[in-house]
Amino acid sequence: MRKNIVAANWKMNLNREEGIKLVEDVISLLPSDNNVEVVFSPSFLYLYKVNKMCADYNFLQTASQNINDNESGAFTGEISAKMVSSLNVKYTILGHSERREYFNESNKQLKEKVDLSLKNNLKIIFCCGETLNQRDSGIHFDWIKQQLTESVFHLSEESFTKIVIAYEPIWAIGTGVTASSDEAEEIHQFIRKVISEKYNKNIAQNTSILYGGSCNLTNAKELFSKENIDGGLIGGASLNAESFVEIIKSF
Ligand code: PGA
Repeated sequence: MRKNIVAANWKMNLNREEGIKLVEDVISLLPSDNNVEVVFSPSFLYLYKVNKMCADYNFLQTASQNINDNESGAFTGEISAKMVSSLNVKYTILGHSERREYFNESNKQLKEKVDLSLKNNLKIIFCCGETLNQRDSGIHFDWIKQQLTESVFHLSEESFTKIVIAYEPIWAIGTGVTASSDEAEEIHQFIRKVISEKYNKNIAQNTSILYGGSCNLTNAKELFSKENIDGGLIGGASLNAESFVEIIKSF
């Protein structure tokens, strides 16, 4: 059975103290019978600390927001998969639209990052999604399929089981405009279909597919009630403990 996952993408927000307080508050507010996997993705600077704070709870995990596409070497200011993995962090997010847009990350470069992550035992939350223009011109299905084909579909069946997909329509990220649950479900269903065509039904059924883009405590229940939506990648609403926990409790 695939897992339900709610991941907090803090982006470039919160200082150390604020981050620690947020994790403490989330832990204290989470119901004792919580069975959703909760993933914190803080700044690299506090990843070690947050990961330590999560270590006693098997449903709490951490993710880096990125890794460099080189194994090691003269890349001042960069962080490798091996470094992240040495902290016992479970996941890295890859292919977030902000990385694609502001740092020109291509599908090809993301393929390198995917391979390096898996080589270093990091599981991946792989983001895909279309712009509003692409949706309006009806090419969004092909676009998303291409993102998956060029960055993750080279993987073996066994390696693909280490991938979580996050569908994040770019027009919904940080805008307050969410995809309707039907719009999101349509794409999630499509993603599961292309995974099934590429691999098999069993792998497709076991892949968690998260929704991201202005997911918050008022729309999470409706989104998570859809058959193919297995959780969320949450930006803005993950920066507040109460709203983030309400989202987790929406299952
Ligand atoms: P948002 O961000 O929830 O603030 O829209 C989601 C994301 O970028 O992962």
